[in-house]
Amino acid sequence: MNMIIATHNRHKVEEFSRILAPLGVTIQTAELTEAEETGETFRENAYIKAKSACDETGLPCIADDSGLSVDALHGEPGVYSARYAPEGQRKQTVLKKLENVPEAERGAHFTSAICCVFPNGDVLEAEGYCYGRISRECRGTGGFGYDPIFLCTEAGCAGKTFGEATSEEKDAVSHRGKSLRLFAEKLENYLKQK
Ligand code: IMP
Repeated sequence: MNMIIATHNRHKVEEFSRILAPLGVTIQTAELTEAEETGETFRENAYIKAKSACDETGLPCIADDSGLSVDALHGEPGVYSARYAPEGQRKQTVLKKLENVPEAERGAHFTSAICCVFPNGDVLEAEGYCYGRISRECRGTGGFGYDPIFLCTEAGCAGKTFGEATSEEKDAVSHRGKSLRLFAEKLENYLKQK
């Protein structure tokens, strides 16, 4: 099955393709009008992006809305993760705000909400979370976004930032790995019923 992904983020395209390929799903990109992310939750924004892409293309469309929630910042940057500060300054902005925050209070988690909208109106959704804390400085060059300041505390990746983890290590524990695997299960069941 071919599925259009509503994102310009090539890292996300790679992660989706890697995890959904075993299910026979081919992820394709398309020139899409950027939908305005007016939702107050990751779930609402994922639906907005997938629905808009499906309306535009007439094909099954998948979108994810994701972001970092920092405990000491009352959940910020949250749904504003991509817009929290100008490009290139987002990680430093978080590090600066947490400058005087002790180790025990540096908890954070990533959320990934996935939504797939089919042309007949059917909707499949899945969410995943990954827990960790915010490091004192950037570590590692892998991944994207906040990866170099997210010190994962989950088994298999504990002690490494996502910037230091390999793709396989990140996929195994990441919010998007979890939401995509849950989504893959739901999709498999959905396709069986068709
Ligand atoms: P979205 O494209 O609106 O979902 O933006 C999500 C933003 O959250 C991205 O631009 C990143 O800044 C951040 N983010 C989401 N997932 C990850 C991840 O796996 N690693 C690092 N940053 C992420």
